Order: sequence, then C-alpha cells, then structure tokens
Amino acid sequence: MAQALKPTFLTFLLSFFALYPLGIYAAVLTSLNQLKQKQYDFVIVGGGTAGSVLANRLSEDSKVSVLIVEAGDTNVGNQNLEVPFLGVTLPGTSVDWNFTTTPQAGLQNRSIPYTRGFVLGGSSSINLLTYNRGSDDVWNRWAQITGDSGWSWNSVEKYYLRSSQLVAPTDGRSTVGFEDPQDHGNGPVQVSIPGFPLPIDNIVLNTAKQLGGRFHFNEDFNSGDFTGIGYMQSTIGGGSRSSGATAYLNPVDTRPNLDVLINTHVTKLIDVNPASHARRGWLSGRNIPAPQPQLTTVELAQTSSGPRVEVTASKEVILSAGVIGTPQILQLSGVGNQADLKAVGIKTIVNLPDVGTNLADHPMLANYFQIQTNDTWDDVLRNNTIFGQTLGEWQQEKQGLFVDSPGNTVGFFKLPTGSSALQGISDPSAGPKSGNTELIFVDGFARFGDLAQPATGHFITVLSAVVSPTSRGTVKLASSDPFVHPLIDPAFLTTNFDIKAMVQAINDAVTLLSAPLWQQTLKPVPFADLANATTDALKADFARRNSVNVNHPVGTAPMSSSSSESGVVDSHLNVKGVSGLRVVDASVFPVIPECHTQALVYIVAERAADLIKTQYNLDC
Ligand SMILES: Cc1cc2nc3c(=O)[nH]c(=O)nc-3n(C[C@H](O)[C@H](O)[C@H](O)COP(=O)(O)OP(=O)(O)OC[C@H]3O[C@@H](n4cnc5c(N)ncnc54)[C@H](O)[C@@H]3O)c2cc1C
Ligand SMILES: *[C@@H]1O[C@H](CO)[C@@H](O)[C@H](O)[C@H]1NC(C)=O
Ligand SMILES: *[C@@H]1O[C@H](CO)[C@@H](O)[C@H](O)[C@H]1NC(C)=O
Ligand SMILES: *[C@@H]1O[C@H](CO)[C@@H](O)[C@H](O)[C@H]1NC(C)=O
Ligand SMILES: *[C@@H]1O[C@H](CO)[C@@H](O)[C@H](O)[C@H]1NC(C)=O
Ligand SMILES: *[C@@H]1O[C@H](CO)[C@@H](O)[C@H](O)[C@H]1NC(C)=O
Repeated sequence: MAQALKPTFLTFLLSFFALYPLGIYAAVLTSLNQLKQKQYDFVIVGGGTAGSVLANRLSEDSKVSVLIVEAGDTNVGNQNLEVPFLGVTLPGTSVDWNFTTTPQAGLQNRSIPYTRGFVLGGSSSINLLTYNRGSDDVWNRWAQITGDSGWSWNSVEKYYLRSSQLVAPTDGRSTVGFEDPQDHGNGPVQVSIPGFPLPIDNIVLNTAKQLGGRFHFNEDFNSGDFTGIGYMQSTIGGGSRSSGATAYLNPVDTRPNLDVLINTHVTKLIDVNPASHARRGWLSGRNIPAPQPQLTTVELAQTSSGPRVEVTASKEVILSAGVIGTPQILQLSGVGNQADLKAVGIKTIVNLPDVGTNLADHPMLANYFQIQTNDTWDDVLRNNTIFGQTLGEWQQEKQGLFVDSPGNTVGFFKLPTGSSALQGISDPSAGPKSGNTELIFVDGFARFGDLAQPATGHFITVLSAVVSPTSRGTVKLASSDPFVHPLIDPAFLTTNFDIKAMVQAINDAVTLLSAPLWQQTLKPVPFADLANATTDALKADFARRNSVNVNHPVGTAPMSSSSSESGVVDSHLNVKGVSGLRVVDASVFPVIPECHTQALVYIVAERAADLIKTQYNLDC
C-alpha cells in the first residue's frame, strides 16, 4: 500500500511545483491572459470593502463561480497598510486613486484631494479605521425611505453581528466600562478600543463624565445611541489593520470557484439583451412592454490603450466600485442623466437622472491647540530615531503607539437648542440618537491641510466634522475615456446649516478644552489660525480656508422604494430599468449616516449577499 502511494504522491508534488510557476495555483490573477474562462455566475466589479464581502459569501457555495475584478494592486505584503498609525501616510501614494475635487465654492474655491482606496480591500485598506455602525435612527430612517423594513435596525442586527467581532485591545488591559461586549458579534472584521492609551484619553473621558449634557460619556457607541464622548472603536486586531481584504478576501482567495483579478479596470458594462437594442430601433415609440437592457457583460482593460477583454456573468454583475467608481461605470455604460451623457458623447441606454447625484460627505477641519507637556507623539514624527524605535516595537511585538490610529477618543454632539444652524429647517439628522457634529481628539499635531507640523512645541489636534450635512454634490463624467478621472463635486459647506454647524463644532472644541480638567493639567491654548478666529464670522472664514474631507462620501446611486421614480437602485439594490445588475457599496446609502461609514458598508454587503443567495437558491 505504502509502496503504491509513493509515486502518486511524488507525481502530485512534482505537478504542484511544475504548475505553480505557470500560475495555475496562483491565488490572485494579475493579467488578463490568466483568465481561463469568459463566463462566471457572478462578476463583482471592485475588490474593495463591499466587493470583498460578496466574493467571500457568494463563493461559499462551491457550485457557484465568481470573478472579482480590482483596478488596484494586492494588499498583501504592504506593511504600511497593516500598521494602524501609518494609515495617515497613505493618501497620495500608489494605493490612492488620487482624485481631486472640482473648485469648492464653500471652501474659497479650493480643490482638495479626494482619497479612495486603489488596492484589494479598497478604502477599508487605507482608511483611519474607526468602526461605527450608526444609531438605530440611521437604519430606521433607511427602512422608512425605502419602504423596506429589511433595512431597519432590528433587521440588520444579524448582518452587523456576522460581519465583526470585538477583540481585546493590544495591551490586554481591562476594558470594563469602556466598551460593552453585548453590542458586538462574531464576524471576521476585528474591532477593538485603543491598545496604547495616551495621556489625553482620560482627560477627554473624565471631562465628559464631569460635564454631562451634550458632552455626556458614552460607554459604547455601537449600542444604538450615537451621542456623547467615548473611546474610539477601530478595525484593529492584534495591533494590525483588519480590512475587507484581510477579513473576507485574503482567507478565501484560493477557493477553486473564485478568481481574483487585480491591476484591471472595468471600463464599461455591455447590454446582452438583443430585444432591448431592437426596442431602441424600430420598436421604439410603439406600445410594447419595454424589454429591459441586460448589462451582464463587463469590458476589462489593464491600461488605457491596452486590449479589451469581455467577460459575462450568467447570473449577475455586481457593481462594488465605490461612490466614485460605481456612478462612473454606470455613466460609461449609458446609464445616467441623458443630457449629461450626451455632453460627453455617450448613448443613453437607461435615462436614470439620479446616477451620480446626491453625493454627500462629512467636511472636516483640524483645530490645533498648543499644550504644556512633552508627552505627545509630536517628536515621533520629528525624530527618525524615535520613529524607527516605535516602528520596531510594532514589528517585533505588535505593541506601542503604532497599534492605534492617531485618534483614541471621539465625540458626537447634537447642536444646542436654538442653534443658528437650525434656522428655517428641522434637525437634518436621523433622530434623537444621532449627532450633528463630531470631534476627534488627537494627541499630537495631525496634519490635515496646508499647515505643516511646527519644528518645536507639543500639540493636541481636535478634528471637527459636520456629520449631518445638508450639502449635496455630484460625480459626473469629464470624458467618455474610462481612464480619465470623473468630476467630483462634494459641494462642501455650501448650506447655511453646514457652515453654522462647523462653527458650533469649533466652539465646542474650544469649550471642552477650557474645562477644568484641561486647565488643571495641559492648559491647551488655540494655535495658529484658530487663535485669531475669535468670532463666529472669523471661525466660518477659518473653516472655509482650512476644511478638508473626512472621506465618508455616500449616495451616488441611492436606493429608494421600488415604486419611486427617483433613486438608482431598489431596496434589494437592483439597478432600476436594467436586469442582471446590482450595486452594493456606499453609493446605495439613501442618506448620509451621522457616523463613519465602513461598518455600514459591511452590513449592506452582508445583507446583499443574503438577498442574492436567496434569489438564486445558493447554499448558505
Ligand atoms: C482616507 C480614508 C479614511 C477613512 N476613514 C474611515 C474611518 O476611519 N472609518 C470609517 O468607517 N470609514 C472611513 N472611511 C470610509 C470607508 O473606508 C468607506 O466608506 C468604505 O470603505 C467604502 O466601501 P466601498 O465598498 O463603498 O468602496 P471601496 O472600499 O472604496 O471599494 C471600491 C473598490 O472598487 C475599485 N474600483 C473602482 N473603480 C473600478 C473600476 N473601474 N474597475 C475595477 N475596480 C474599480 C477600487 O479600486 C476599490 O478597491 C475612510 C475612507 C478613506 C478613503
Ligand atoms: C498617486 O500619486 C502618487 C504620487 O504622484 C503616485 O506615486 C501614485 O502611483 C499615484 N496613484 C495611482 C493609483 O496612480
Ligand atoms: C470663486 O469663484 C467664483 C466663480 O469664478 C467667483 O465668483 C468667486 O468670487 C470666487 N470666490 C473666491 C473666494 O475666490
Ligand atoms: C520639555 O522638554 C524641554 C527640553 O528638553 C524642557 O526644557 C522642558 O522643561 C520640558 N517641559 C516639560 C513640561 O516637561
Ligand atoms: C532623537 O531622539 C533620540 C532618542 O531619544 C535622541 O537621542 C536624539 O538627540 C534626537 N535627535 C534630535 C535631532 O532631536
Ligand atoms: C493673528 O493675528 C495677529 C495680530 O493681528 C497676527 O500678527 C498674526 O500673524 C495672526 N496669526 C495668524 C496665524 O494668522
């Protein structure tokens, strides 16, 4: 028996090593030539946050074939993606699409960078890791807008629980009173409170406990109530970033029924329904039920002038290219506002005017305070020796400053009653448990704008953001060339509400840092431009000159009820007027949540996977 087995095993070994260099067993395909089939059950466009979830969940059924196509590179082997603290260094590098906004009227006509992940895991591979599922109001509003109770807080709870789990902070300290394990599940994305507490953390948290009211302490934001001040929860496990790629995609990329193709752009979707072509010809105008276009062939290219290859989905194409990529691909495929498409020479297949509209994002501003201590991380950034020691601590033990994203504590606040921001409008937030503004407390000079870190001194940065903005912008094609960046106009700070709310957030930062606990300890003093912004009018000017974005764009292919004329997808995320095409990513958010967005993307993607599995009778 043993004798007989030997040659077989040897043959296996030999064939394994012989074939491996040819890419037969390669987990991830890097070239169009490596595609062995031109038809899959599902083709997922975009290997980002949502795409990674779908690739994992749909390929759980071994009878189903799945292709996921990502424009960027693999995340594996890139240390800067793994070290939480180094997330801030990623914008403007090879893992960023390097988009820029159009000149922003609300920002004194500045154009600002618009960072989006260009790598497996998408923006979850490069974001600043904060993990928020939103208040119960956020989800109940989605259910109300879409007429689908499947989006309510109670209904999506199971998807939240299956997407993430709470793990111990890296330093292993007791977390009692600083998080509530009951609010967490058992999914693959790892979430933890900071693993390297900083000197200002307790001052922030104890100030909240002392002041109460609008500034009350919140033990766990993921409980359903998203107001108050508490510890940041972040997608970090064992000191490393947990992303769509590390949690969902990398662990399954060797499944035989899943192909992961990287370094490849989807340039457009192609209609495979001949009847729908006919309709636009001789049938058009007659009273015949409209056959829907079926956009189930995707066109792929690795460079702008390179060869095009077509791959077809026998069941569905799923667009998970994110809030910029998804409306761009829809418009390149003839799905969008007819007049806009005509302007760039694209023939309209489905006139869906809301594609690329409704872009909403959170504007963010860095407020600097100088403090009386030497114990901040400012010197880590100034001194290569200290930086190297800190990185070494992460590499060898997964401990120290670099196990965390730069902000350890955070607050979400309702505007005070009578706020001038609310003149003439009712509170735009989802409800009583959602804030209007946010403050993130950073123990050093965090550069988010033009002002460079001073050569000396020690600082606190309080990042202020408007989380229930009323400004809405657009993503439109600049060209019919898929390799040309679209025009991105988030319309930051273009409403009275948004600018007044930002001014209130600045005032809240100043108020909090004037509280007794601060004045007894670090004595923060407003620094640079903030020091001179002594009136609300000057603060508004300061905000317009310095605001950037916190990178939470949503809503460029919003969901609405099936019967609604507006919106782009129905509540099951099918594109209206098209068959065989769904959108699953942050584009479908019907309204911007009053929190960071990634956890909501995981939840949307988990529900989408469930809807698809049910529709096609897949094994769970
Ligand atoms: C710098 C930054 C910081 C952030 N900080 C936080 C935070 O702290 N907390 C939080 O909750 N959220 C944060 N976010 C937001 C959060 O990461 C996103 O909301 C979320 O990851 C979006 O998921 P998505 O699936 O919609 O898109 P993405 O994850 O961006 O995925 C889209 C994918 O599609 C690919 N793609 C696009 N076009 C094409 C094409 N034509 N062909 C092939 N592939 C294509 C992209 O390369 C990308 O991989 C941040 C985002 C950024 C950029
Ligand atoms: C973004 O810009 C940087 C700096 O110019 C460049 O190195 C990087 O390759 C760019 N990213 C992409 C995806 O092209
Ligand atoms: C911004 O540009 C518009 C249009 O060109 C112009 O009218 C306006 O004065 C500019 N605003 C500032 C602050 O430069
Ligand atoms: C900070 O360091 C400087 C230079 O070493 C020293 O003079 C100063 O006393 C220190 N300040 C505090 C508050 O420890
Ligand atoms: C950098 O830090 C090291 C270690 O603390 C110290 O010895 C050195 O003097 C610092 N260098 C500068 C330029 O401050
Ligand atoms: C603040 O105002 C003072 C006095 O007008 C001026 O000297 C200083 O340059 C201003 N600082 C900044 C950062 O604008």
